[in-house]
Amino acid sequence: MSIAGRNKGALPSSQASIQDFRNHVSSGKAAFFEQYGMPFVMGGRDGCYLGDLEGRKRLFNLHCNGGVFNLGHRNPQLIDVLMKGFEELDIGNGHLMSKARADLAKMIAGLMPEDLDYTVFGVGGGEAVDLALKVARSYTGREKIISAKGGYHGHTGLAMAAGDEKYRAPFGPPVPGFVQVPFGNVDALAKELDGSTAAVILEPVPATLGMAVPPEGYLGAVRELCTDRGALFIVDEVQTGLGRTGRLWGFEHFGIVPDIVVLGKGLSGGIYPITATVIRKPLESVFHEDPFIHVSTFGGAEVGCLVAKRVLEISSDPEFLNHVKKLAGAFHESIARLRKKHPRFLLGLRQLGLMMGLELKDDLSGPVLSKTAYDHDLLMVYANNDPSICQLLPPLNMDLTEVDLVMERLDKALAAAKRLRPVLKIKRQVEGFVEKWKH
Ligand SMILES: Cc1ncc(COP(=O)(O)O)c(C=O)c1O
Repeated sequence: MSIAGRNKGALPSSQASIQDFRNHVSSGKAAFFEQYGMPFVMGGRDGCYLGDLEGRKRLFNLHCNGGVFNLGHRNPQLIDVLMKGFEELDIGNGHLMSKARADLAKMIAGLMPEDLDYTVFGVGGGEAVDLALKVARSYTGREKIISAKGGYHGHTGLAMAAGDEKYRAPFGPPVPGFVQVPFGNVDALAKELDGSTAAVILEPVPATLGMAVPPEGYLGAVRELCTDRGALFIVDEVQTGLGRTGRLWGFEHFGIVPDIVVLGKGLSGGIYPITATVIRKPLESVFHEDPFIHVSTFGGAEVGCLVAKRVLEISSDPEFLNHVKKLAGAFHESIARLRKKHPRFLLGLRQLGLMMGLELKDDLSGPVLSKTAYDHDLLMVYANNDPSICQLLPPLNMDLTEVDLVMERLDKALAAAKRLRPVLKIKRQVEGFVEKWKH
């Protein structure tokens, strides 16, 4: 049958795409969104807003794909840089030397403290974390990698091994040498961190764990322990980097300098995928014997480097960072007001700049609020490893005046979630009851 023939009698656009998605991309995701009452297929997008295919629904984006859209959707400055880049360049060739990659790496070095001078580029965050862990193992000649329970570093090989069991259990035996400790507990880390430890890897504020802001002194203590025991400290800034917290890098809040910094998501400007593993100068010796020992065909694509450079110029501007701090203040105040209005449902706010998490009543509340938020035209999601927390990651360049609009919608979403939660709770109990009787 011809392709044209197959498309005969196609359903209206969203429904047809949902069906194609179900049949050819992911039947599970299609079923999930159907059950969730979220028949949303991404369409036109611009700035803080994400529309559906038919242009009927327009969501204010408080998810931003974990910071990919820090500078909004389809930022015109970034599109301009990309289009101009295409006049002369393409992705380039990772085997050869490149001006675009050298320029970007030099800029990153200038924006990092101390001797964090070298950058290896990648395409995805998981890949960048994998490389960080490879460098740590090779440099120290040690094997053990310590990460935080409930933290998240990606779904590739070593990054996945550093994550929670639920993400790796279906895929075969565990990779040896990986240990997890509770985030924020210095004693637990001190017990594990020994002479066989190559590195500790942490997010400054673990997003998937529920935007957990570290207890006072924690990251400083981790830094000290790593230095004392000869292990490297890797900081995963994939979500916290690039101004999200009101400073260019999240680690700056804690007076520490890591040995390796991983950047991703927002570095792409949501326009061209690119990630970076930034390492201290001595660590580059790992590549001296064979500089081709690590290769990423699309890592550090030249046109992507141009976009990332512009992202860094925008994000490191003190006025931009000041704007983020002002927005963070405005969110703080308005959410405090909402807490008074919904005291038994909205229990608190976790916040470091615009890295925010709403503390809700219980594990059912996050999924329920994500749904009612969608119904009120907000895109926000609960934290995967703690569904009692709803993540709140607005674009960093949103207007201050838009905070009120977001809060009006959130207020309504919270009221609706309070009504819906008890109904779902009963449904869950009944389902559990039926399930039990089956056995
Ligand atoms: C903190 C952190 N590290 C690493 C990753 C992995 O990035 P990617 O999905 O680009 O592989 C993510 C993705 O969500 C992340 O949030």
